[in-house]
Amino acid sequence: MKIVSVVGARPQFIKAWPTSKALREAGHQEFMIHTGQHYDYLMSKVFFDELDIPVPDVNLEVGSDRHGRQTGRMLEKIEDILLSQNPDWVLVYGDTNSTLAAALAAVKLHLRLAHVEAGLRSFNREMPEEHNRVLTDHCSDLLFCPTATAVENLKREGIERGVHLTGDVMLDAHLMARDIAREKSQIVDKHGLQEKEFYLVTLHRAENTDNFQRLKGILQALKKLSEEKPVVFPTHPRTRKSLESIGINTSESASAERLRYIAPLGFLDMLRLQEAAATILTDYGGVQKEAYFNGVPCVTLRDETEWLETVSHGWNQLAGADTAQILRLTKLAQKGQPIADFGTGKSALEISRLMTSY
Ligand code: UD1
Repeated sequence: MKIVSVVGARPQFIKAWPTSKALREAGHQEFMIHTGQHYDYLMSKVFFDELDIPVPDVNLEVGSDRHGRQTGRMLEKIEDILLSQNPDWVLVYGDTNSTLAAALAAVKLHLRLAHVEAGLRSFNREMPEEHNRVLTDHCSDLLFCPTATAVENLKREGIERGVHLTGDVMLDAHLMARDIAREKSQIVDKHGLQEKEFYLVTLHRAENTDNFQRLKGILQALKKLSEEKPVVFPTHPRTRKSLESIGINTSESASAERLRYIAPLGFLDMLRLQEAAATILTDYGGVQKEAYFNGVPCVTLRDETEWLETVSHGWNQLAGADTAQILRLTKLAQKGQPIADFGTGKSALEISRLMTSY
């Protein structure tokens, strides 16, 4: 069986790692397209270098742009490749512009489309990711849902055919990387940190980085928290630009600083830092789950989440961007109950099996 898979942004490289491995070990032929949506070394190549993800067969080098132009350029280039490869399946991950471009290219050529991480909804149509998910799910022949909530979301939209609860490939990736990260990563020592004695922050959603009211609310909370414990902030390039535009110097801070901006991290360093953190504050989707996988309480800097299980099981507090609310919920953040929904770390094997037998 021949599969064309499409990746382009950081979390997709991680999801592709276990999935690609399972597909190749089952004897399938994979042609991997990297759209080039992410292109800085620390946003892209570091993941391929430190994990044994296959080197993409082609990089479309699309780069950053307005959403329509970026998605359109990808669509045109992916279509050319699909025409020449003529695969049995097109495989996409998550909810980025790369996901949507590949989904559109596939359906327009009547190629079968499989979507890993289907059925997630924030019900916030302001988020570009929400459009990308809804549209991709409605194009897909096989929909691999990480949670029962995702299956329910699809049912409400009338999608039941081809829907499978597979668990979450991010858990597969976490389990594959955990011991390697503990052995190889020096990140905790490099920044002079003590286990469970610092806060870890990640922030890149447009709703926060491009809304200065929200950004300032979050920053004030981080400043206050840093009086208590160091705050470590690996900074996404989008966030760095926003912070600098309001006069904040984000050059890599000395380890004496209480609020430390550091460069974006690869998967192993990020995993290790998550595991060592006292509490994680984030607006990323994946990091809310990774906090749970690492047994660390999480405070989400958004007004809603796609990962309701992390909230209902007590691991995750939804704080939005209000300073007082972030401070209050960070104090309350604690460990919760085990969550069975994400599976057992064998989701990629199940995905490979389902694609083979469809
Ligand atoms: C994208 C995805 C988001 C995902 C995130 C993972 C969309 C709509 N958003 O958001 O769902 O969670 O990736 O990180 O697809 N930039 C660089 N170097 C890079 C990449 C980006 O400097 O290698 C800067 C550029 O200024 C760019 C900005 O970051 O304009 C945003 O990049 P983009 O890929 O558009 O969106 P993300 O915020 O990364």
